[in-house]
Amino acid sequence: MGGMCGIVGYVGSPPASGRPLEVVIEGLRRLEYRGYDSAGVVVVTPEGLESTKKAGKLANLVEALEAAPLGLGTAAIGHTRWATHGAPNDTNAHPHRSGRTAVIHNGIVENFATLKAELLAEGVEFASETDTEVVAHLLDRAYDATGDLTSAMRQVVRRLDGTFTLLAVHAHHPDTVVGARHDSPLVVGLGEGENFLGSDVAAFIARTRQALELGQDEVVTITPTSVRVTDFDGKPVQARPFTVDWDASAAEKGGFRSFMDKEIADEPKAVADTLLGRTDADGQLVLDEIRIEESVLRAVNKIVVVACGTAAYAGHVAKYAIEHWCRIPVEVELAHEFRYRDPVVDERTLVVAVSQSGETMDTLMAVRHAREQGSTTLAIVNTHGSTIPRESDAVLYTHAGPEVAVASTKAFLAQITAAYLVGLYLAQLRGTLFSDEIASKLDELRVMPDKLQTVLDRSERVREIARWMADTPTVLFLGRHVGYPVAMEGALKLKELAYIHAEGFAAGELKHGPIALIEPGQPVFVVVPSPRGRHSLHSKVVSNIQEIRARGARTLVIAEDGDEAVVPFADEVFRVPRCPTLLAPLLTVVPLQVFACELAHAKGLDVDQPRNLAKSVTVE
Ligand code: F6R
Repeated sequence: MGGMCGIVGYVGSPPASGRPLEVVIEGLRRLEYRGYDSAGVVVVTPEGLESTKKAGKLANLVEALEAAPLGLGTAAIGHTRWATHGAPNDTNAHPHRSGRTAVIHNGIVENFATLKAELLAEGVEFASETDTEVVAHLLDRAYDATGDLTSAMRQVVRRLDGTFTLLAVHAHHPDTVVGARHDSPLVVGLGEGENFLGSDVAAFIARTRQALELGQDEVVTITPTSVRVTDFDGKPVQARPFTVDWDASAAEKGGFRSFMDKEIADEPKAVADTLLGRTDADGQLVLDEIRIEESVLRAVNKIVVVACGTAAYAGHVAKYAIEHWCRIPVEVELAHEFRYRDPVVDERTLVVAVSQSGETMDTLMAVRHAREQGSTTLAIVNTHGSTIPRESDAVLYTHAGPEVAVASTKAFLAQITAAYLVGLYLAQLRGTLFSDEIASKLDELRVMPDKLQTVLDRSERVREIARWMADTPTVLFLGRHVGYPVAMEGALKLKELAYIHAEGFAAGELKHGPIALIEPGQPVFVVVPSPRGRHSLHSKVVSNIQEIRARGARTLVIAEDGDEAVVPFADEVFRVPRCPTLLAPLLTVVPLQVFACELAHAKGLDVDQPRNLAKSVTVE
C-alpha cells in the first residue's frame, strides 16, 4: 500500500543538531512529487522511536511537527505516500511500527493477506489496513530472534512477494538504517560522517553528489561511517558508485511560481544539454554510452519503442524521424499493452524504452519481457541510478536535469532530442544518410534551443488566452504527421493539469468521426506543419482548419512564421520560428504546455501536484 512513494533515510551528525529530521524533511520535499496522499517520519532517539504521520501533503506533517516536536536522534527515516489501496488517512500513513521497530515501504506486498492471517493467529494486533504493517510485525519478531536488524531484514524480505523498497530502524540501534530493494527504487548517498538513502538522488542532491546504485534484491545497512550491501542471502555485494551530475539548484523553484513554470523555462537548456558532447572533433556522432555491438545494430530489422504517457508521445514523434532516416520500421507501444499481448520481437529487434524517471514499472516490465525474447534493449532515461537503465543493454541519458513537477515538460523535449540522436546514429552506422546530411541535421538540432527561447519569449498571448478560457469544459487538439503526437500531448497536459476534458486527433481522422463533436464555440488547437515541407501535408491541415471553422469551431492555430495561409481561418495564431518538419515538435508543443499550465493556475490548481497522480509510477 505504499504504491509509488518517496522514501528518505539518514544517519549521521550528533543528535543535538536536529539535522536528521531536517535532512529527511528536505528530502521528502524533493520527493513529494512521487506521492502526496500522506507523509510521515520516525526518529531514533535515546528514549526510543518517535514518529509523526499525517494525511495530506507534506505541509500537514511539517505543521504537526512544529506543534509537537519529536525528540532528537542520529537516525531518521521518512515517507511520502501515493495510496494504492487503503484510504489515505493518518493511520494508514507510514511509518508503521511494531514493538521497537519502524518501517516505511514503497511498493506492494502481494502475499500480505497470508502473512497477516498467520500473524493474527499468533495474536498480533494490527493498527492499520496496510500491507506494510505486516512487514513491521515480521521484522520486529525477526529482530527479537536474531538481535540484528540487517539479518532480520534479510529473513523478512525472503518471505515477501510483490514489489518493495523498505527502510527500517530499531530503537536499539540509534545510528543505523537498514534498507532493502526488490523491484522498487533505492539509491545510497555518501556523505562525510553521514549517509543517505532515497528513492532517487533528488532526495539528497543538496547534501552530496556521491552515490551508490543498489541492484535488485539487495539489502543495505548504513551508519554514519559505513555502508554495507549484501544480497538477500547475506553475500556481500560491491555496489556501483556514481556521481550525480544534477545541479542541486535545479531542484529548487528559483523564483518561479511553480516547478512546472521553471521546467518549461528550462527547455532550451534541456535540449542543449542533451545534445552536448555527443559528437567528436570531426562532427561524427559518438554515442559512447550505447555499448551495443555495431554488428547487432546493423542487423536490427525492427525497432519497438516502449513507454507510457508523455514518454510514449515522444516515441511516437521519433518514429517519423527514425523511419525516414534509417528505413527501419518503428512501432510505438504503450509499455503496459506491449507486455501482455505476446508481441513479435526477437534478436533482431531493438527495443527502446523511453522514461524520464527510469522507474516506471510498466516500462520496466516491457524491457524485461523484450530481453527474455532475446531483443536488444536501449533505454532513453533522465534519472541516473534508476532501474530501467540498469536492466537494459545500453542507455542514452537525456540531460534534462531533475523534473519535479509531476507533469512532464522539459523531459519530453529531451526525449525527442535523444531519440533523434539514436536515429541519426543508426543512420550513420547503417549508411542510410550521407555524413553531410547527418551533419546538417545535427546543425539544425543545435539551433533549436535558440528557437525554443523565441517561442518562450512569445508566450504571453497564449497565457492570456488560457486565462480567458479557464471555464471551458472541453478542448480538442488536431495535428498530422509529427503534429499528431504533439496534439495528443497537448490534450494530455490539459487533462492532467487543468482537469478539463481534452482529446488529440490525427487531423485526417476528423471526417471519420470526431468532426461530429464540433459545435459553435468549441475551441480547437491545430498544429500546422511547415508550408515549406511537403506541400500536401500543409494544405491538408489548412483544409481541416477550414472544415472545423465552417462548423463554428474556435480555431487556435500553431503555425510557422510567415505561414499566411492559415490566417483567414484562425481565430488566433501562435507563431513558432521556421524549422525542418521533423524538428517542429520541439517548438509546437511549447505553447500547448504553457496553455495547460497557465489555465491550471487560472483555476487555482496546484500545477506541480495534480490530483490523483504521482510522478514515478512504480506499480503496474
Ligand atoms: C504526463 C506524464 C506521464 C509520464 C509517464 C511515464 O505529463 O508525466 O504521462 O510521461 O507516466 O513516466 P516516465 O517517463 O517516468 O517513465
